[in-house]
Amino acid sequence: MVTVKLSYPSPERNKGPILDVLRRVLPARGTVLEIASGSGQHAVFFSEHLPGIIWLPTDIAAERLESIQAWREDSSHSNILEPRRIDVLDDDWGIGTVEVVFSANLVHITPWECCLGLVEGARRHLKPGGLMIFYGPFRVGGKHTAPSNADFDESLRQRDPEWGVRNLETVRDAATGFKLEERIEMPANNQMLIFRRRRGAGNEKG
Ligand SMILES: C[S@@+](CC[C@H](N)C(=O)[O-])C[C@H]1O[C@@H](n2cnc3c(N)ncnc32)[C@H](O)[C@@H]1O
Repeated sequence: MVTVKLSYPSPERNKGPILDVLRRVLPARGTVLEIASGSGQHAVFFSEHLPGIIWLPTDIAAERLESIQAWREDSSHSNILEPRRIDVLDDDWGIGTVEVVFSANLVHITPWECCLGLVEGARRHLKPGGLMIFYGPFRVGGKHTAPSNADFDESLRQRDPEWGVRNLETVRDAATGFKLEERIEMPANNQMLIFRRRRGAGNEKG
């Protein structure tokens, strides 16, 4: 049988530190919509450790969706939903409202339009007061936070000129309708950005 369960070292390394933050900032109950879940390692780990949360994993790629489903089938926990295909650029994500949108390692490895699509989708689907959480490398004040991030940025741009480590302030300014409540420095020069959907902001872009 062909194995579809993908496994990568980096989610294994960062899932513990990310969980520590999620435990602190997530509501006790509610649905977390994960955008660009990748292999599914994060989705299964977080859902197993956050029993009050319903975890909705998604990705654009068929082989990722298969892998997430394979991880899910091996999980003894039922609070992880069937993975859904979502392309952040789609106008309609085909889901209802959620308490949290979480996305790790998407915005630097896709064109800038995908960051805008992610924010727009979060604006459409998050309940007022809900959280939009990003994990990954970001520049601060236009500067890389470590030489290794500058090298990584260069390698990303060589792979695709539209990719690259984003500037935190540019992401914050694109996130209209949200307040950046917290920026947390994570291991390996990554960061977590915790945005809160402003109450009474409606679905407008302001
Ligand atoms: C670097 S991986 C990150 C996976 C996982 N979140 C992690 O941190 O290990 C980027 C993921 O983004 C997905 N992706 C790329 N373009 C996308 C899009 N337009 N909409 C949704 N997901 C996308 C890819 O299929 C891939 O699984």
